Amino acid sequence: MSRIDYLERIPNNVDLAGNRRLQRALEEWQPKFLDWWIEMGPEGFQAADVYLRTAVGVDAQGWAHFDWVRMPEYRWGIFLAEPESQRLIPFGGHKGKPVWAEVPGEYRATLRRLIVTQGDTEPASVEQQRHLGRACPSLYDLRNLFQVNVEEGRHLWAMVYLLDAYFGRDGREESEALLQRRSGHADKPRILGAFNEPTPDWLSFFMFSFFTDRDGKYQLASLAESGFDPLSRTCRFMLTEEAHHMFVGETGVGRIVQRTCEVMREGKTDDVRGRGVIDLPTIQRYLNFHCSVSLDLFGSEISTNAANFYTNSLKGRFEETKRDDDRQLKTALYPVTTLDGERVVTRDEPALTSLNERLRDDYVADCARGVARWNQVIARAGIDFELTLPHRGFHRAIGAFAEVKVAPDGRLISEAEWDAHHREWLPTDEDRAYVASLMTPVTAPGAFAPWIASPARGINGQPADFTYVRFTP
Ligand SMILES: [Fe+2]
Ligand SMILES: [Fe+2]
Repeated sequence: MSRIDYLERIPNNVDLAGNRRLQRALEEWQPKFLDWWIEMGPEGFQAADVYLRTAVGVDAQGWAHFDWVRMPEYRWGIFLAEPESQRLIPFGGHKGKPVWAEVPGEYRATLRRLIVTQGDTEPASVEQQRHLGRACPSLYDLRNLFQVNVEEGRHLWAMVYLLDAYFGRDGREESEALLQRRSGHADKPRILGAFNEPTPDWLSFFMFSFFTDRDGKYQLASLAESGFDPLSRTCRFMLTEEAHHMFVGETGVGRIVQRTCEVMREGKTDDVRGRGVIDLPTIQRYLNFHCSVSLDLFGSEISTNAANFYTNSLKGRFEETKRDDDRQLKTALYPVTTLDGERVVTRDEPALTSLNERLRDDYVADCARGVARWNQVIARAGIDFELTLPHRGFHRAIGAFAEVKVAPDGRLISEAEWDAHHREWLPTDEDRAYVASLMTPVTAPGAFAPWIASPARGINGQPADFTYVRFTP
């Protein structure tokens, strides 16, 4: 069961051949997906051979096979984690009952919405990143970008499988619509805000992979707890892929920070813009931006939707099965940081309606660990500077802080103070123009753009000067 059938037109481990109706639906969707990939996927590299990993099994160890692939020939398919035998619903109103193999009728619309919202983010990020290849800092980074891109494409397959397999005609219509929306489009934008922001340069890309892909990790982890077992199994395997995306983001920013610190030390100056690297305050402003738009993805602090998802056993908490409370949260409270008139306060709210905030807290703690590792790079270079996560109220468009102005340190400030200082806190046009000016492609094997350090090790044990992408003449 864990082996994936690659003889099929659509690789899968769900016995697609045994379900003709579903197979036909997906085989009809496949060429439309490919059209979308050609139109909206990595621009200028569709003919290149890329050293990519492909899933060959779904167990945690050794599931990937590395080989040269032209991206349009990548074997996108349907891979679910192994079923847990006798799995019981771990939380909510249906806790302790056997998991559902089919969609319960009363939750059909809600589940469809959850799946579509997750599914929409996957092609969106491919669209956001489609121009980056032309400005790659190395073949290693170019390959990592494409790996992330093809896997986001596969994540779209994962959600389309659920829609087509379990939601009938509605599901097939949603599958079509997922290929119709476009990131940043005025009339048919992607569903969530952060997925309509441009990713114009590689610092943005690495920050996006660190912050926004990590939101994906937390959403997938809470959907992996779902009582709807096919969703749970789908998300569990997606999480194993997602880990690499966050690795790309964290090490990418870390290598930029490292290179900047090297140049600061060599030049004994923090005025490094003339020296071809990205100054630490600019990195902080990018961090502030990507962190704040990603925090919005978790939704409002207080949410009856989130409470209903939980009570209906559709979407759990992060690592639900490790929690030793009643996993129903009927009377539990949770401390929520919010706004009380003119003050930022933390107060106890019902845990059920605070689930978005709780997931956001888990996320912020995870982000903080990554930022601490970046700060170790700075400290090791003997430089007196610390990157920090902005306060959760900073630059928010959703939730209690959307209507007010909050400084990165958490102070509630006036519009006038915001106007006077936001250029210190968010990337300015000058910052973006400067970073853009550094984005000249480096494609010689083993060479790296001057603004980023080489990685500690290559992909799949390959040397740093490995030709990760081969261009066809
Ligand atoms: Fe994804
Ligand atoms: Fe991802």
